[in-house]
Amino acid sequence: MARTDILYIGTNTKMYMNIYQTVDFLTKLHELTKDISRDQIKLFVNPSYTALAAARKSVPKESITIGAQNMCWEKQGQFTGEISPLMLKEVGVEIVQIGHGERRTIFKETDEEENRKVLCALKHGLTPLLCIGETREQKEKKIADEILRIQLKIGLNQVTPEQSKKVLIAYEPLWAIGVEGTPASKEYADERHKVIKEALVEIFGKTYGKDIPVLYGGSVNNQNAAELISMPHIDGLYIGRSAWDAENFNKIIRLVLPIFIKRRKTRETGAML
Ligand code: 13P
Repeated sequence: MARTDILYIGTNTKMYMNIYQTVDFLTKLHELTKDISRDQIKLFVNPSYTALAAARKSVPKESITIGAQNMCWEKQGQFTGEISPLMLKEVGVEIVQIGHGERRTIFKETDEEENRKVLCALKHGLTPLLCIGETREQKEKKIADEILRIQLKIGLNQVTPEQSKKVLIAYEPLWAIGVEGTPASKEYADERHKVIKEALVEIFGKTYGKDIPVLYGGSVNNQNAAELISMPHIDGLYIGRSAWDAENFNKIIRLVLPIFIKRRKTRETGAML
């Protein structure tokens, strides 16, 4: 089964939930979704560092994958305040988000730094979820596609096709993220996903590039989730605010999964004809 045949759906809890809240959220989410076959979806939650160990222990790893929101590009050393991939692995983390828009804009992380983190994550057996996206200004100047291609080409520099089997991409336009954000239209998001997928094929070749899941993130909610997932180049959703209530997250999952499965079946039938 190709990776893009599975619905990748996850949430980044940003700097909101403490340990108790994270465990409570995960426990509820697990209970609410445990009847859904994990052959159909890859459900993941990326909590704050301090909640990672308790998060991992609170629910089965087959049910919900735990990810971190960031990490250092070295495994150890004189990097005060940083967290190593080995430390993440020690507490059972499998995914690591790299280059979130808030890291790039507020903390001024560069594509070169994201690249070092991606390579380090892969080296230590973690799945990097590389986040890319243009700013509002870049969108207005109509250079979004060029920006996305640069972010991919630098962010994934020196990643081998074989290693790309572990990579995940999230397209999160900066102007669409968070309370100030306006969600991208399904057409706009799909056009950017198409560009991203073409760039991935260019970087890794058709066999590998085509099978890297590209998730959309940025003001996903109960109103737009279904139409976003119905688009041909959107493989999954990466959600903030609308997913932080387990019941609502469960609703969104159940809303989008049948659409995703139908889309996959149509694709399979098309391929057989
Ligand atoms: P929102 O869904 O709250 O806009 O956040 C998206 C996000 O930043 C996921 O990483």
